[in-house]
Amino acid sequence: MAHIFSAGSLAVRALFFMSVRPATPSSSRVADRVEYISNTASAVNALQGQWYNDVDGLWNSTGWWNSANLLTTLADFALDAASDAEKGELASVFANTFANAQKVPQTAAKAVDAAGLVKSTYTRTKAPLTFEMPGNLSTRSEFNGFYGFINDYYDDEGWWALAWIRAFDATGTAAYLAMAESIFADMQTGTQPAACGGGIWWSKDRTYKNAIANELYLAVAASLANRAATADARAQYLGIAAAQWAWFKASGMINRHGTINDGLTIRADGSCVNNRQTVWSYNQGVVLGGLVELSRAQARNGTPDAKLIPAAAAIANAAITKLSTAGILHESCEAGGGNCGGDGPTFKGVFLRSLRHLQQEPTLDAATASAFKTYILQNADSIWQTDRVAGTNQLGLVWSGPPTAGGAPTAATHGSAMDCLVAAIAAA
Ligand SMILES: *[C@@H]1O[C@H](CO)[C@@H](O)[C@H](O)[C@H]1NC(C)=O
Ligand SMILES: *[C@@H]1O[C@H](CO)[C@@H](O)[C@H](O)[C@H]1NC(C)=O
Repeated sequence: MAHIFSAGSLAVRALFFMSVRPATPSSSRVADRVEYISNTASAVNALQGQWYNDVDGLWNSTGWWNSANLLTTLADFALDAASDAEKGELASVFANTFANAQKVPQTAAKAVDAAGLVKSTYTRTKAPLTFEMPGNLSTRSEFNGFYGFINDYYDDEGWWALAWIRAFDATGTAAYLAMAESIFADMQTGTQPAACGGGIWWSKDRTYKNAIANELYLAVAASLANRAATADARAQYLGIAAAQWAWFKASGMINRHGTINDGLTIRADGSCVNNRQTVWSYNQGVVLGGLVELSRAQARNGTPDAKLIPAAAAIANAAITKLSTAGILHESCEAGGGNCGGDGPTFKGVFLRSLRHLQQEPTLDAATASAFKTYILQNADSIWQTDRVAGTNQLGLVWSGPPTAGGAPTAATHGSAMDCLVAAIAAA
């Protein structure tokens, strides 16, 4: 298949994005919706012009699963606020990534460091493939890429499933929804062998049950329940999502403060307990989006569950209390000039993206919705005013600035901050 973009044409597209936007004044007041849209469009332009690798459909300077999150962020922007022209540009980006990212020959390895932070290493094994992949999955080992957006990590798979669901929402492209469904089918293999009374393993070596893979399993199942074409499929996804939440909330991963630790320790007798590892912001986030989708799916099914949205609000409030300083969200790895590695920079955006879906949920009580709105807007304002490189509009790791804190901005720090800007468009 021919590449949709050449590098040159992409630069022209980026310029087009900029030319239609008015200059945005910087001030300490809360910006209005038009300003958030304008700022986000400038950030999209910076992301695509400075980091999007149009040959492999991924973003330079960041990893495989982080790229799935960037795609999700762009799809949210396309859904919420993009102009028709921008929607067309973004649809081309989705199509290019869909066609090419899964052909990039690479292997993944992940290790957890002493501070409990996962470090992902993706190694390119050869030059990008330039030929068509076979339709026959049994031959995929020849390709060495993450064909079908499948690799050895169930969380990576979940991120891509959510990305293709959002790209489906933004474009109506049936192949994206079908891809999310086939990714989910592979995630289901992570339930075996059974351990800890339910849930899925983190990776295919089946040694660790953690929060992120299991929150993604909930979120993807619930999202598919709201989008699947047949009543049978909807009922199946809903059943999986409901069972997953019932297991998750009793799994021990939600601690006495109401926040969620990284995962479970499996004892010699097979029982599972909270491992007290770090409370990462993304583990307080994916579950919120999952519960919003599950609540919707239950209501559509005629089996509404009034406890889901309050449960999500309790987690969100606990996380905001524990992880914010002066109203701004921080990751623990930022302390002391820490750089959060390759994975950590994406976490905070996941929380804000998911908080926004909860904030917009009509059944959330008005006082909580209003408090979440204030939180989203003050983080977005702080990012634009203190965490942005003048000239390039690159957004950094630490949302209270400066943009170079913890190292120069990357596509991951930038995309994470963009999630907050997109959330502000919806909340404003
Ligand atoms: C991304 O990296 C590739 C390979 O190093 C390079 O050829 C390309 O120009 C880069 N693209 C951008 C937008 O930085
Ligand atoms: C896929 O390839 C395998 C191995 O070549 C072959 O046995 C199988 O019949 C093929 N399946 C389809 C659906 O073509």
